[in-house]
Amino acid sequence: MDIRPSRRIAALPGYPFAEVDRMVAELKAAGHAPIDFGVGDPTEPTPEVVRRAVQAGVDARARDGYPSYIGAPEFRRAVSAFMARRFGVEVDPGREVCATIGSKEAVFQFPNCLIDPGDVVLCPSPGYPPYNRGTWFAGGVPWHYPLTAANGFLPDLDAIPADVLAKARLIWVNYPNSPAGRVAPDDFWPRLLAFAARHGLVVASDEAYSEVYFTERPPRSILEFGRDGVIVFQSLSKRSNMTCHRVGWVVGDARIIDLFKKLKTNVDSGTATFIQDGAIAALADESHVAGMRDLYRRKRDVLVPALRDIGCDVPDPDATLYLWPRVPEGMDGLAFAKRLLDPSVAVVCSPGPALGEPLADGTNPGALHARFALVPDLEQVEQAAVRLRRAFKGA
Ligand SMILES: Cc1ncc(COP(=O)(O)O)c(C=O)c1O
Repeated sequence: MDIRPSRRIAALPGYPFAEVDRMVAELKAAGHAPIDFGVGDPTEPTPEVVRRAVQAGVDARARDGYPSYIGAPEFRRAVSAFMARRFGVEVDPGREVCATIGSKEAVFQFPNCLIDPGDVVLCPSPGYPPYNRGTWFAGGVPWHYPLTAANGFLPDLDAIPADVLAKARLIWVNYPNSPAGRVAPDDFWPRLLAFAARHGLVVASDEAYSEVYFTERPPRSILEFGRDGVIVFQSLSKRSNMTCHRVGWVVGDARIIDLFKKLKTNVDSGTATFIQDGAIAALADESHVAGMRDLYRRKRDVLVPALRDIGCDVPDPDATLYLWPRVPEGMDGLAFAKRLLDPSVAVVCSPGPALGEPLADGTNPGALHARFALVPDLEQVEQAAVRLRRAFKGA
């Protein structure tokens, strides 16, 4: 029998990070030991306090059935306490918080709550792929705004054409920004909220990297500036090295959270309750988070000078685990990434064009960039700095 994929599945290009995985596998199969800055998946262990809580939860919940769709009350209370402590924002755990199985599924599914066929969703380019993929699967039309050094990696709201705005219902923003590593300045949030209110847009603020910062003052949440028409996506994947656990939450305008809960009841059966036990333990502890920040800062301080030495233009990131250099003159992001995959270098990064979506004019804001996720251990980062300098400068 013929298996005919749906038009949507058939039209999907490969997931960009899957391509990186394949390239790494090829190098490894040829006997090389690549240093892998490709996928943003932390390699440090999940904190012990979290692992113990998960282990205890498995036994304590031996007879538990399906988890709650929206998260256990104690998990939602822990989220509410965290939001108050970290951002000074009071949220009602009953009406304004819902657990997620990590941010990715929530980001991907969320447009189904708001988008009818043909509605436009404003997405950053470069940006996290599920913003536009989720839009597309919901029948919407992604419209990409560029994030470039020239605009401080912030959306130029006034440059969005009126005909696009007339059809737009939702805008995705992501600060601290992946991959650019920028924190949004305080005056950005009121401007964004006023713009969104003027044009009837819901703001979806992906704050997955809010705890991975190097600035003196922690990054703000959009909820410190307003809640009307706002939903925030949060995750413990990066804060607490919990990518394998799959747990996060959405928080914001109760009317939007209600729509999300309605959707979620139809999509999945909730976050495993023993994982929520681990999340509660993670949220109660800040010492492991400080340690995580310190380690990323040390890696950043090794790799940034090496990239500058080989001709990349790369500012010190304010936040996130990513570096987003403009690659050396004379090559584009793909050529640079391929050059680094030469067995004599064996350093893996993500080519910028794979992370940027083409704009309406056909240009790709990621074209001249590459992304380095600071996930190899410090020794490997030091080794990569040596290899890069040797390959490009003969040093
Ligand atoms: C910008 C951004 N948002 C959200 C996520 C999703 O994180 P998770 O699904 O692990 O919670 C990621 C993961 O890399 C990300 O880069």
